[in-house]
Order: sequence, then C-alpha cells, then structure tokens
Amino acid sequence: MKELVDKLHETRKLEKKEWVQLIQNRNDKLDEYIFEKARNEREQYYGNQVYIRGLIEFTNYCKNDCYYCGIRRSNKRAERYHLTENQILDCCDIGYELGFRTFVLQGGEDRSYTDETLVHIIESMKTLYPDCAVTLSIGERSHESYRAYFDAGADRYLLRHETANANHYRKLHPEELTLEHRMQCLADLKQIGYQTGCGFMVGSPYQTAETLADDMVFIQNFQPHMVGIGPFIPHHQTPFAEKEGGSVELTLTLLGLIRIMIPNILLPATTALGTLHPRGRERGMAAGANVVMPNLSPVDVRKKYLLYDNKICTGDEAAESLQHLKETMKAIGYEVVTSRGDFICKE
Ligand code: 5AD
Repeated sequence: MKELVDKLHETRKLEKKEWVQLIQNRNDKLDEYIFEKARNEREQYYGNQVYIRGLIEFTNYCKNDCYYCGIRRSNKRAERYHLTENQILDCCDIGYELGFRTFVLQGGEDRSYTDETLVHIIESMKTLYPDCAVTLSIGERSHESYRAYFDAGADRYLLRHETANANHYRKLHPEELTLEHRMQCLADLKQIGYQTGCGFMVGSPYQTAETLADDMVFIQNFQPHMVGIGPFIPHHQTPFAEKEGGSVELTLTLLGLIRIMIPNILLPATTALGTLHPRGRERGMAAGANVVMPNLSPVDVRKKYLLYDNKICTGDEAAESLQHLKETMKAIGYEVVTSRGDFICKE
C-alpha cells in the first residue's frame, strides 16, 4: 500500500480503484507512513501554524430533512433559536478580542434570513472588522444569492457535498435534495471566487470504500480550498438513531490522504472528531490538519445546535478556552496564530 501513498504524493491523484484499495487496506502502520508525509506537506505551506476560526452557529432552523441531522425540520423536539444581527456582532466582538480573524457563520437552511438580511450582516461584519475574513456555511442558495454575499464581502464558503455518490446521496437525503444541485452550488461558489470548501462525514450510513473512493476522486477533480470531514455520530431523534457511528481512525487516515492529495489545503480537525476522542483535535493535527474551529456561539444556544449526540460544547472547543488550546497545541509543536489564515496558493 505504501506504493499507492507514494504515487499519490508524486502525482497528487489516484484512480478510483486505487482509492478503494487504499481505503480497504488502511492500518495503523500505514497510517504512520501517511501522517508523516502529510505533516511534511503541510509544513511546506503552513509551517507549524494552526489557524483558528470562530464558529457562530446563528440558527438551528432548517427547511431540510436530512436523515442524519439533529436539526432536520421533522425533529419537533429540537429547541429552535436564531440570532439577531446584534447578537451575531456581539459574538464577533468577543471573538475579535480573543484573537479570531475569521468568523464562520454557520446555520441550518433558515429562509427567515433573506438575502437582504444576510448581506446586511456580512457588510456590518466587514465594516466593523475589516481585517477579518467571513466564511459562510448556510447551505444551498441560488447563484445570485451567492454572488450577493460575495459582493457584500464574504470570503469563503463551506458546503459539504456529503457524498459524491448519487445512490449514496439518495440514502442520506429525502427526494427533494439532489447531489446534482449540491454539485452545482459548489461549482457556482468556486466560480464566483470564494475560497470554497466541500466535505463529508466518515462512516455515514451506507458508506462503503467505493463511495469514499468517489469522494476522493471528486475532491481531486474539484480542487477545493478547504475540506471538512468528521466522523458520523448518530443523533437519537433522527431516522439514523440506531446506526453505527464513524471511526476516528478512518477519519484520521482520510485527513492525511487529503493533505497529501492537496498539500496546501485548509483542513480542519473538526468538532465531531473532538467529540469522539478526547484528543481528537490533536490527533487531527498530527494526521495533517491545520485548522481548528472553536465555538463562539452564545453559551446558552450551544446545546441547541445539536447535529449529533454528545456534542462537546463547554470544554476545549469553546472559544473561551483558547488559552488552553494554545497550550495543548504548543505541547505537540504547533503554534496557534492570529491571522486570517487564507488559503496559500501554489507558486
Ligand atoms: N454526525 C456528524 N456530522 C453531522 N453533520 C450533520 N449531522 C451529523 C451527524 N449526525 C455534518 C454534515 C453537515 C455539517 C454541518 O455537519 O456533514 O454538512
């Protein structure tokens, strides 16, 4: 299997069947080989720097009904909230003081935020914090809407593709959501000029080595600026309540492989990874990640933004624990920095 990792390193791509092989044959020894290469690649672009993003979960209303997600519209037991512009700006204020220079506005697909409202929020953020980047993670919208947010100053957009395999996509989402539309959104975002992120859950129900290989091939073709992956964690109030969760190990392997595939990619060690393993984020860094996204949402809403069970929300992942995060990262050789942390282009 080392030959396949070497081939990936040299050519930055593999054939689908090679991905299947690599994924089916992952093991701890091979991981060490992958992680070391991944860390080397990361270092060439980002040194030992860790970028931080202040995550603002501004609404848990959602018009969608994804089978895996705790804030799906059919979950009548989810306690819904959304933040006003002023509440969002208060989060930014706290975050700025803490040293955040990127704010991520993440939420369910909540149509009560019209384009006009969103544009206003983005413009206010960029006026008050001109040295900060704004990342949006608000799902599928039209090309014109994406354009309007970009013109208002939004810099980056995260939209996980969830799975690049159409049959698999069907099993995770109701009929009204299509992979085709998802992919169109991603193409629009990139074309408009956002630093664009896709991604998927590791170990989502019905995922196979084959569908994961489709994900890797999609990523190598799409060439995103960011990729967000984390283990699937069942939520008890969803149709997937009884499904098995994803594995931390496979998530780490895939983080390493993605780093080798796109050496300059922005790659977060996600909250879901931190939820499943107490040292998940550090292990993510050691596997090739270079971004962490501490929670900047108002403390009282964090427990309501529950995409999955047992989400961590009062410990190290919280923005207030930044000092502790810095120390933890320092102990393993990384430096948390205060900068926008943009994608670094290849020469
Ligand atoms: N487990 C892990 N990740 C989840 N997401 C949604 N539900 C879950 C879950 N149960 C992820 C999806 C989505 C992102 C915001 O959170 O990939 O795109």
